[in-house]
Amino acid sequence: MPAAVLVPAAGRGERLGPGAPKALRALAGEPLLVHAVRALAAAPSVGLVVVAAPADAVEQVRALLAGVVGTTALEVVAGAGDRQGSVTAALAAVPAEVDVVLVHDAARPLVPVALVEAVVAAVRSGAPAVVPGVPLSDTVKRVDADGVVVETPERAHLRAVQTPQGFAADVLRAAHAAAGGGPVATDDAGLVERLGHPVRVVPGSPDALKVTHPLDLVLAEAVLAGRRG
Ligand code: CTP
Ligand code: MG
Repeated sequence: MPAAVLVPAAGRGERLGPGAPKALRALAGEPLLVHAVRALAAAPSVGLVVVAAPADAVEQVRALLAGVVGTTALEVVAGAGDRQGSVTAALAAVPAEVDVVLVHDAARPLVPVALVEAVVAAVRSGAPAVVPGVPLSDTVKRVDADGVVVETPERAHLRAVQTPQGFAADVLRAAHAAAGGGPVATDDAGLVERLGHPVRVVPGSPDALKVTHPLDLVLAEAVLAGRRG
């Protein structure tokens, strides 16, 4: 049974500055979402991509992606007011028989196909939850509400976590079902952790960088130019 990938793409991209929703902003002439979905559909283990689009752009996104997915099945649903809600909405469109579900941010357009495959393989080898992680360059400090440092966690023990994150489908469903009412999580593994399941970290990739601020777009353009030679 091929894996399904949920693609939250309904955010506004406020940190990127004024303009269209972030997933629809251009990187080298094509929307971030097109780059991301093209990579996911190219992964041999992926059979279904479910995009959570901005509620007023569902038809536009369907048309945009129709020629991008090849033989991979595509669903487009309306996203929600926060990322977690958008993932919950996309998850509802996954058939019950799908056993592995990944979640990948549209804001990570250049994810390598090999990373997608590695995450699926780690879930299939028995891990209920898998996240790509990379060591940090910066030292990280925990601060209180007044901006005073409370703690400096040892950097060697920290990972910056990317997507795609991969899950046994029943574990992800249970995590989202249990999440209602609790604090909103910024990633799906965070919800799974609350249920007490172990989350395995596999090596992430610099190419899976998240486009958040304008400078990230410059970096992504450079990565793409490097690939295209
Ligand atoms: N996302 C979503 N639904 C939301 C908010 C975010 O589907 N209501 C998606 C974004 O489209 C993005 C991913 O979640 O692909 C990660 O979110 P983030 O990088 O924070 O994107 P935005 O929320 O769009 O950006 P910002 O926070 O700067 O507004
Ligand atoms: Mg956001």
